[in-house]
Amino acid sequence: MPHAVNPPVVSSLGAGGADNIVLIGPMGAGKSSVARELSRICRRRWVDTDRLVVQQAGAPITEIFAAHGEAHFRQMETAALRSLAEQRRLIVATGGGIVTEPANPPLLQALGCVVWLTADEEVLYERVARNDRRPLLQTTDPRATLHSLLETRRPLYTSCAHVTVDTSTGSHLHVAETVLARVRAFFDSRDPARA
Ligand code: S3P
Repeated sequence: MPHAVNPPVVSSLGAGGADNIVLIGPMGAGKSSVARELSRICRRRWVDTDRLVVQQAGAPITEIFAAHGEAHFRQMETAALRSLAEQRRLIVATGGGIVTEPANPPLLQALGCVVWLTADEEVLYERVARNDRRPLLQTTDPRATLHSLLETRRPLYTSCAHVTVDTSTGSHLHVAETVLARVRAFFDSRDPARA
């Protein structure tokens, strides 16, 4: 059923300047699903940096990692991010490791409002254990690997994000509505004349 959106909420999202909504966060946080939901309710286009990399490489992420290694994937990820620099009114989903490349946080922040989607570790693991598309978790102990990635990356997400939303519970729609409320508050605080 189509979801009724309060038009002022949507139209006041970052009217001037870089007004994109950028989702960062660990694997399993729901970045792509929430981006799709945001796209639907805001009537904005959404892109996913993982998909941009896959299109550019003409190969799935597992193959890029296997053939060229993680460093090569990270270079492609940064190039994908740079390609979005002039875009407006986009919802951008990103890969979980995008914050690990030092060039990326300023690029992410320059795009608009950076939203860190987070969830309880157990919930993340349950979600990512459902498939084997993530090369970094193809280890003898993926649970421990996820834990260590989260520990290493938490400070990077913290310093990059403008706002944070927990996705452990609730539907994608509920999370998307929470994201919109926080993003709107962020843009209003950046430009108080519009609040
Ligand atoms: C990665 C997360 C993946 C993908 C790649 C590396 C990571 O994206 O970019 O497998 O380093 O955490 P998702 O967060 O969409 O799973």
